[in-house]
Amino acid sequence: MQLDLFDIESMPQTEQEEILALRKELDEANYKYYVLSQPTLSDREFDEKMRRLQDLEAKHPELADKNSPTQRVGSDLSQKNGFRQMQHRYPMLSLANTYSEQEIRDWYERVCKDISYKPEIVCELKYDGLSISLWYENGILTHALTRGDGTHGDDVIDNVKTIASIPWKAGNGLPSFEIRGEILLPWESFERLNKEREEQEEPLFANPRNAASGTLKLQDPRIVAKRGLDAYLYYLLSDQLPADTHYGCLLAAKQWGFKVSEAIQLCKSIEEIMAFINYWDTERKTLPVATDGIVLKVNNLGLQRQLGFTAKTPRWAIAYKFPAEKQLTVLRKITYQVGRTGVVTPVANLDPVQLSGTIVQRATLHNEDFIRQLGIQEGDRVWVEKGGEIIPKITGKDPSDSHQEEKKFQFIKYCPECGAELVRDAEQAAWRCPNEDHCPPQLKGKIEHFVARKAMNIDGMGSETIDLFFAKGLLHNIADLYSLKADDIMSLEGFQQKATQNILDGIEASKQVAWHRVLFALGIRYVGETTAKKLARRFPSINSLRQATGQELTEVEDVGVQIAESIRQFFLKEENLQIIDRLRKAGVQLESADTQTVTSSDILAGKTIVISGTFQKHSRDEYKDLIEQYGGKNTGSVSKNTSFILAGDNMGPQKLEKAHQLGVGIVSEDEFLNMIGL
Ligand code: IVH
Repeated sequence: MQLDLFDIESMPQTEQEEILALRKELDEANYKYYVLSQPTLSDREFDEKMRRLQDLEAKHPELADKNSPTQRVGSDLSQKNGFRQMQHRYPMLSLANTYSEQEIRDWYERVCKDISYKPEIVCELKYDGLSISLWYENGILTHALTRGDGTHGDDVIDNVKTIASIPWKAGNGLPSFEIRGEILLPWESFERLNKEREEQEEPLFANPRNAASGTLKLQDPRIVAKRGLDAYLYYLLSDQLPADTHYGCLLAAKQWGFKVSEAIQLCKSIEEIMAFINYWDTERKTLPVATDGIVLKVNNLGLQRQLGFTAKTPRWAIAYKFPAEKQLTVLRKITYQVGRTGVVTPVANLDPVQLSGTIVQRATLHNEDFIRQLGIQEGDRVWVEKGGEIIPKITGKDPSDSHQEEKKFQFIKYCPECGAELVRDAEQAAWRCPNEDHCPPQLKGKIEHFVARKAMNIDGMGSETIDLFFAKGLLHNIADLYSLKADDIMSLEGFQQKATQNILDGIEASKQVAWHRVLFALGIRYVGETTAKKLARRFPSINSLRQATGQELTEVEDVGVQIAESIRQFFLKEENLQIIDRLRKAGVQLESADTQTVTSSDILAGKTIVISGTFQKHSRDEYKDLIEQYGGKNTGSVSKNTSFILAGDNMGPQKLEKAHQLGVGIVSEDEFLNMIGL
């Protein structure tokens, strides 16, 4: 953007800024939606922001930018995937859309005026999946392109061929045609997939559309085949179409074996159109797939040509989008949940309401600020919404509910689980219970984290089992797992021989889990999977990690002061040291296997070694580990205590100079390896 080239003096600063901010926000939203399949804005928010940007740009033509998100359709082109990108024969445009019935009436009147009579309109459902363009040559399916950026798409033919309802041969002798439609993941398959992902601790898909999009971009068609995608087709393109109306083309496509929706109606007046919209607004909830509106298309293809296109959308079609489902209900009580990390989340307990086919009685209120922004409190009537997302949201309150000042909402001050005084976590706008070593959900959370697949991977220990063992006093901390006895478990209801053995086998197998995963499993605050790996590489045993100074810790990539301090605090607690001792006695890996197999010696004992430059035979991290293994100490800067510098190529000039000044010796890579006998 070269803003300074324009005369922007006459424009209020705020609108100029708003344009820039909206462009940035919409560009990001497009990328997250189309490429990452992880939306950040709801459809409605996206549409509203896009419209606001269009209006502002129309008002300020001097700020036009051909790269503005208003100038292009979103792109789902993946940057680094194995799909071949191809040019669309006919650009793949989107549709003008509106949430307003009045705008549908306006569109219809405009069309009537432009062609001077009332045309037939085909009303269809707007399927909420992702668009696909199927190419057939001599009756054979040859390509299947995603929308991409509207001019080029990814050819996902191998994945599309796994969809049972898409014919591989079609066209009744038509030499070449293209048919467009929507790929969808039916509700049932979507729910099954998310359930599986939950069990596997993988992130859930927000809605079927994102699940379909994520699925279609998979590299392995065998997995795609298992997911259960479906496709509805709604637009035929060819030089030799089988009919001169859209409706006629759809009938032909249906006869050729394509799945064309039954919910299609030819309407002759705006009243018929409105009746169709109203009928499907409720009836759509009974359908097996997600829909988010109605599409209206001028039926006659000659008239379509006459009406033509704008830069982005056809004038002969428009989409009406259904408003997100909303209900007013009473907020009976705000309760509080203490999570695994001690964060206290307020939860709205509602009078049950029916929304998008499910009964909603609870919704998250996120945090104190969220409740204050909405200005809600117990007893209020609140709006609950369920859009394309699975989790219901509270979006506001009935304005007629006004409050007396004295009734003002207060967040709780003490932990509902253990009574500890809560502390406010400034960064996360959250209240936390600081009593991590005694607060029951936090203790259970630590055990849950410890047994998780990515940590110790102990089978048969779901959160319900942990709750039960905890309640029965069999488990208080992670070390207790290794004292569990078959008799204790079998004395609990529902635990037969097989389930018990499964748990004990899982616990036994966990003794082989590598040190870096054990470190992650310990659940030290801020030490995630990747950080644990990096720490374990640098500190090959729990003892070396425990003895590390703050500076040594922060020398590890990604480890800052906060993580270093958290590690230090962890080892300061007597309880943690006892747990570690019990884990060691149980045979859990508290050092890396390499340390045990390599015949390390104490040859570097008492030596303080600085590493500098780049190396040929091992990485810097590997040299750090080697120094440790052979009893030496690695530090970052040269001082009079430095025994020698292990120097690779391009050693830093400052270090070199300091070494000369202090008379510190320089040891090459080969000399060092020789020294330790490798
Ligand atoms: S017709 C040039 N018909 O909605 C017109 N589109 O916002 C081509 N969609 O990209 C589209 N159901 O992915 C058409 N019955 C339907 C549709 C439909 C869903 C999608 C399609 C399109 C988007 C436009």
